[in-house]
Amino acid sequence: MCGIVGIIGTEPVAERLVDALKRLEYRGYDSAGVATIHNHVLDRRRAKGKLKELEKRLHTEPLEGMIGIGHTRWATHGKPTEVNAHPHISGGVSVVHNGIIENFKTLRAELEADGYVFETETDTEVIAHLIAREMTRGAEPQQAVQTSLTHLEGAFALAVIFAGHEDLMIGARRGSPFAIGYGNDEEPGMYIGSDAIALAPFTNKISYLEDGDWVVLTKNSAAIYDEDGAEVSRKISLSQAGALIVDKGNHRHFMAKEIHEQPDVISRTLSHYIDLGAERVDFSELDIDFKTLPRLTVSACGTAYYAGLVGKYLIERWGGLPVDVDIASEFRYREPLMADGGAALFISQSGETADSLASLSYCKSKAQKIISIVNVQESSIARESDEVLPTLAGPEIGVASTKAFTCQLTVLAALAIHIGVQRGVINEALEKELVRSLVEVPRLISEVLSHESDIDDLSSQLSHAKDVLYLGRGVSFPIALEGALKLKEISYIHAEAYAAGELKHGPIALIDETMPVIVVAPEDDLFDKTISNMQEVAARGGRIIFISDADGEAAGCELSSMIKLPKAHTFVSPLISAIPVQLLAYYTAVHMGTDVDQPRNLAKSVTVE
Ligand code: F6R
Repeated sequence: MCGIVGIIGTEPVAERLVDALKRLEYRGYDSAGVATIHNHVLDRRRAKGKLKELEKRLHTEPLEGMIGIGHTRWATHGKPTEVNAHPHISGGVSVVHNGIIENFKTLRAELEADGYVFETETDTEVIAHLIAREMTRGAEPQQAVQTSLTHLEGAFALAVIFAGHEDLMIGARRGSPFAIGYGNDEEPGMYIGSDAIALAPFTNKISYLEDGDWVVLTKNSAAIYDEDGAEVSRKISLSQAGALIVDKGNHRHFMAKEIHEQPDVISRTLSHYIDLGAERVDFSELDIDFKTLPRLTVSACGTAYYAGLVGKYLIERWGGLPVDVDIASEFRYREPLMADGGAALFISQSGETADSLASLSYCKSKAQKIISIVNVQESSIARESDEVLPTLAGPEIGVASTKAFTCQLTVLAALAIHIGVQRGVINEALEKELVRSLVEVPRLISEVLSHESDIDDLSSQLSHAKDVLYLGRGVSFPIALEGALKLKEISYIHAEAYAAGELKHGPIALIDETMPVIVVAPEDDLFDKTISNMQEVAARGGRIIFISDADGEAAGCELSSMIKLPKAHTFVSPLISAIPVQLLAYYTAVHMGTDVDQPRNLAKSVTVE
């Protein structure tokens, strides 16, 4: 998703802006640009494609200036061309923007009627013209921005600079995240960015704009105002982002590195929620009475939604609490009825997903207690929650979520035990048994990873498929969904997942000898049912790839291949079977030569609807 940065300092900024943009690359983008002011003159460079194209442009046509803004664009309105790339300019005003201006068509028509000529297909250009129009009417920059903001509908973060003003930058936030970085005496300057990671090379003193806030920055000050124009103060804290190492280590891709980090990050997450000595879960800081809670409402998007589905199985089966799970983009407009005294749980790696954040606001307005499972502790979702359950996965850079997903499952499994204990359906002996099974997970995942070369071989065959079907039952159904999503997003092979029992209600018509069917079937109480569905596929010539801790003979039919999993307690089986589906997608994409870490069209942090 789009990334914005801005710097006012005492050194040339163009290169530093590009460095900051590189740290936002993981969000996904298809063009980039920077604008600076030097000797009162505003100038910009933009390029389609990756940041190296922008660097080439800056090499041949450098930009001077100690104030500037930069942007990575993930196209929403208009193709990813150089003309549509930010920063946009009108008169002496230059703007970068993340988010969507929903009423841009109306504003565009109005501005065109006023004689403004649009160069781009973007929604952002209206912002530049609106501010420029206010200034031609005599407003000072601050007043021009404040008035223009009142015309904008939608969710956005934006930054504006003005020709002739080398010590002034104005930013605003409505919905999309916006961090402010504060320089120090040795290196004076002020910084803005879509997240603290972008600003980590410059400063760790960070504050965040709240919804509706806007800020007037100079090299050594930041005056923050709320929606009504009243000056407000926002807490400055020391961000941990700088300490987070963002490199690939010995791996070819971030995704490979992140898959391999899973034993470590799951151990780290477990140690946060488990008293290892006592073999008990520890949620002493979580102030929710699950004994009296009528229901838990979960919403999330994509992979995090699938984690929510696994959570539903775990919390209902082991914790004895009814759970509803929704896709956040559906939930937010469904106006669901919410029980008095209820609680809503949001699951998100980035903590910035626009639909999840909007669902959270809805639940807040219905007086629900808000719990979140988030990976980015400084994120908007974390900050808006009453109770935060962190996943300690570290920064996830690969667009396809892997370690954040299994850490989400880890927290959900531990939470299911806690809920079961509070509701009196898990006794001490069972709690210890389940905790022991969780503690085994990192070792079992390492065992699966040690056989990755077999999955690599198998993936070379899979890379020739046009379509792939994934099947699973019970808690393995969301893992099948996750497997299909991973394959689609990074290899671009069409994949679908079905609950195995649903097969004969339609999708079985797809089966022929060209169709790989990946069956996720740990030996649990639904194993026999899944096996019969698998045999129905085999009888119709489907090429079965069997993922199970059972022996191959248990399949009772011809298998094209098998990925043998180590024996695990059924409680933790989704955590183990998630690994081979990640590896299958990863190696298939590698065989196909796609851009694994930044697949086409995708953004890491989806901050627009
Ligand atoms: C898929 C993937 C996405 C995200 C989804 C939600 O690999 O990563 O489906 O899970 O966009 O993002 P977060 O978890 O940041 O809310």
